[in-house]
Amino acid sequence: MISGKIKLPGDKSISHRAALFSALRAGSSEFTNFNSNDDCTATLSCLSEMGIDHDISNGKLKVYGRDFWDWKPANKSLFAGNSGTTARLISGLLAAQKFATSLTGDESLTLRPMKRVIDPLTKMGALINSSNGYLPLHFTPVKKLNGISYNLPMASAQVKSAILLAGLFSDGTTEIFESAQTRDHTERMLNLEITEDKGLRKIKSSGDHFIPDISMHIPGDFSSAAFFIAAALLIKGSSLLISDVSLNPTRTGLLTILEEMGADIQAELKHEIPEPIGDLEIKFNTLQNIKINDEIVPNIIDEIPILAIIASQSEGKFEIRNAKELRFKESDRIKTIVNNLENIGVNATEFDDGFSLNGPQKIKGGLVTTHGDHRIAMAFSIAGLFSEKEVHVDKPECASVSFPGFYKTLKSIII
Ligand code: S3P
Repeated sequence: MISGKIKLPGDKSISHRAALFSALRAGSSEFTNFNSNDDCTATLSCLSEMGIDHDISNGKLKVYGRDFWDWKPANKSLFAGNSGTTARLISGLLAAQKFATSLTGDESLTLRPMKRVIDPLTKMGALINSSNGYLPLHFTPVKKLNGISYNLPMASAQVKSAILLAGLFSDGTTEIFESAQTRDHTERMLNLEITEDKGLRKIKSSGDHFIPDISMHIPGDFSSAAFFIAAALLIKGSSLLISDVSLNPTRTGLLTILEEMGADIQAELKHEIPEPIGDLEIKFNTLQNIKINDEIVPNIIDEIPILAIIASQSEGKFEIRNAKELRFKESDRIKTIVNNLENIGVNATEFDDGFSLNGPQKIKGGLVTTHGDHRIAMAFSIAGLFSEKEVHVDKPECASVSFPGFYKTLKSIII
């Protein structure tokens, strides 16, 4: 069973933003619990290439920011590794810079769509060449970008953030309209103005916006917590405390769903500013499957692989639709989830925009093909805890993309 108390490395989305936003302000900023996973390290190295220095040790990060116009041209192409957040967010800044830059990533990242940021940035006046909407990108400097009004065509915090960042270094005002609320770390951390307009959320950024000092303690990553929450809920007799974890409501849709499924989870919010943080206490309980509400999907987008494992052990029919964005993640997550469920003996039905299954089903064991996707590796490793025979994950080490200590932390709570 699962038992104990854990604290988790800093939230990945907040860690990326801590590095990027503090780089924009002349002077130093300090963060504790920064996540030195592969993705956030990629953001720091891209920044170093442009003259933004940092010191890091034991989760303490100090960033020596510079005025944006004092950044240095990189001597080589920037490399975002596996990180979509690095590539999308930094594109907003590179599009506005006064020097030319090239940006690329690993094999998986070069298969992920960049047109979603190229299109709005081009509307702002940016000059970006791409390989048919994919990496590598080449940014040619222009005199100054112009602010735009933009309706987000897909629920993507990365796209929203790229445009808002470009807006900070453009003439005029940039306004983003979003119909589905995506994670709001960018607006919170940069203190951007948010209003409501015709039922849509409107977020503003502009060239005269003051970039605040965002030095902070970074809450534990809720998306990493989700794997341990699942283990504690599904293994008889378990009880687990996760302390100082992010409880940002744009991220914790999984808690709402689990509550509806009958989970026994107590959440205690400790403080809300600059980011909500608190403790979670999870106890084993039998769960009933539900059809997931379309509106909540953007708030559980990274937790769907582990939700699929939870659903396979819960009673009744589980269905999720309106989740086509999953096809554009580190792998085509609709396919990788459904195929790997089948590989370990669980029947599931794939749809263009989601999947369904009937639970509970026995996990028999088998080979999991991760395609190097960290969340697939971690979700199916949890399935291995209650499988009849071994669940063999082909590249377990890819967990380091978001959580290098995943297996060590998991071992520490299995008794
Ligand atoms: C992220 C946004 C999400 C999420 C990703 C991190 C961010 O992607 O899946 O892991 O930090 O902004 P999209 O915004 O593309 O949905």
